[in-house]
Amino acid sequence: MTFAPRDIARHYLPHRTHYYYARSKFATDPLYRVVAEALIDTHRPLLDVGCGIGLLAHVLRGQGFTAAYSGVDVDSGKIRSATAAANRAGLQATQFREMDLSRDFPQHRGSVALLDIVQFLEPAAQDALLESALACLDTGAVLIMRTGLARPGWRLRFTRGVDWMARIARWMNVGPKAYPVREELEQRFARHGVQARFESLSGRLPFENWLIVAHHGEPSPIDRPDQGKGVPANSRQAVATQGLQS
Ligand SMILES: C[S@@+](CC[C@H](N)C(=O)[O-])C[C@H]1O[C@@H](n2cnc3c(N)ncnc32)[C@H](O)[C@@H]1O
Repeated sequence: MTFAPRDIARHYLPHRTHYYYARSKFATDPLYRVVAEALIDTHRPLLDVGCGIGLLAHVLRGQGFTAAYSGVDVDSGKIRSATAAANRAGLQATQFREMDLSRDFPQHRGSVALLDIVQFLEPAAQDALLESALACLDTGAVLIMRTGLARPGWRLRFTRGVDWMARIARWMNVGPKAYPVREELEQRFARHGVQARFESLSGRLPFENWLIVAHHGEPSPIDRPDQGKGVPANSRQAVATQGLQS
């Protein structure tokens, strides 16, 4: 199992912006490794909702995740870049598709990743997206989500500011709309009979970042006692280490 950030980034060339984005993202954000570690023992197809340029697909394949991967995003330029990079890397069973998730949701049964996406949708569209994502979950599937949570404090203000900077820099087509409320998410998960754990991913980073992993009641590989509950210890260490580097 390998994680080779520079090699992954090279697959985005000749798009230099995406090459440098990938390099800096891998250097400063432990997200993809944490998500890959949470998904590695799952075998259901994965839908990556708001996949961006598809970095998660490369990390998952490098870590040995073999189930089908499909990514959807509203940004046609990112989807083109994601497709080209996946082809250059020779990623198997990997596809990308342009889609506006505030209007549409793909047919899917299996796991769903929602990484840094929900806050860019209006609350009503967020509701619909979360309902659609939860309806995809079947036996052995997980919903994995990273998001800021709406609660008092400077971390959320910082996170909102960075999300706005991404819009101003034109990395994002839209600015942030609303951050989910933890209690509302918990109630939604309970209505679907889904168990969820929330884990702060902030570490030493100034972001209001939470990792949420949810699945139906039956035991899931990610909750196996030998792996410990939640994000593996080495990932927590990675969070701290990455925080020091950034
Ligand atoms: C902060 S990026 C996260 C990208 C990716 N999940 C990752 O973690 O690398 C948010 C992504 O959500 C996408 N997005 C925002 N609004 C969307 C919508 N209505 N439908 C589909 N994608 C959307 C953006 O284009 C962007 O790629």
